[in-house]
Amino acid sequence: MGPVYSGGMKGIVLAGGSGTRLYPMTRAANKQLLPVYNKPMVYYPLTTMMLAGCRDILLVVNPQDLETYRRLFGDGAQWGLNISYATQPKPGGIAEVFLIGREFVGTSRVGLILGDNLFYGDSLPTVAERGATGSGAFVYAYWVSDPQAYGVVEFDAAGQPASIVEKPKNPRSNWAVTGLYFYDADVCDVATQIPRSARGELEISDINAHYLKAGRLTVEKLGRGYAWLDTGTPSSLLKAAQFVETVEDRQGLQIGSPEEVAWRMGYIDDGAFERLIEPIRGSEYGKYLQRLLAMR
Ligand code: TTP
Repeated sequence: MGPVYSGGMKGIVLAGGSGTRLYPMTRAANKQLLPVYNKPMVYYPLTTMMLAGCRDILLVVNPQDLETYRRLFGDGAQWGLNISYATQPKPGGIAEVFLIGREFVGTSRVGLILGDNLFYGDSLPTVAERGATGSGAFVYAYWVSDPQAYGVVEFDAAGQPASIVEKPKNPRSNWAVTGLYFYDADVCDVATQIPRSARGELEISDINAHYLKAGRLTVEKLGRGYAWLDTGTPSSLLKAAQFVETVEDRQGLQIGSPEEVAWRMGYIDDGAFERLIEPIRGSEYGKYLQRLLAMR
């Protein structure tokens, strides 16, 4: 195992929440640890962050799940990452991460991804990197059939964002803001300035609306060639699993493998990759990783 990586782009993976819509699956297990086909859910957003170039990662979890996540990820050195942990005492909204993660963010630009969001698409690394290297707030919009369930962005005639509203009853567009965001370090100050919403949460849509008002928000549309799935209901969880199974079975290539992404991104070398495979050679997953090494 190599030395712990430090420096580079920072990213937060938010894997707390109450998961009430998945009850009773979430009675004892945290939502983001549930499987999406053949991997824990949180592997998918984690690898999206890795593909965006984030190697310094803060995982925000519920206090009772901290030890489980530590067991899953350790300090991240096995994947060439530096993973640290923080807890959210109770689910007080997505934007609370910027109060919790203030010290982690420091003076750096930072990415945030929701632990139940799955992104898939050919040039996703480039698209995510644009957010990572941009300025102000940088978010992505995706056309959905049920915008009422999301933060909705309205565009003006020039294609510029005109408004962002959280879970509107009468959405002004079908463009939902996805669970991948990038911000300048001042997002931690912005989070202290916005009031709690009627449901008692610090809303990420309020943060984004703040940047919009300041003329510092970029919204990039993800076109139809991308998949953005969330996994918050039994049906969407099953659909996400079926999506992953369909693509993986057809291609013989996996979605959301941290070992593979670490190796392809050059975060770990062949030797380190082989050492990761050794103890899991007998599993389907281990055999897949072995095939990758043999194919190169
Ligand atoms: P949600 O799906 O909005 O909430 P939830 O996960 O608690 O589920 P439910 O609505 O069924 O009760 O959360 C979106 C993502 O953000 C998910 O990955 C959990 C995470 N989250 C937190 O970690 N802390 C929070 O305070 C909130 C609101 C969400």
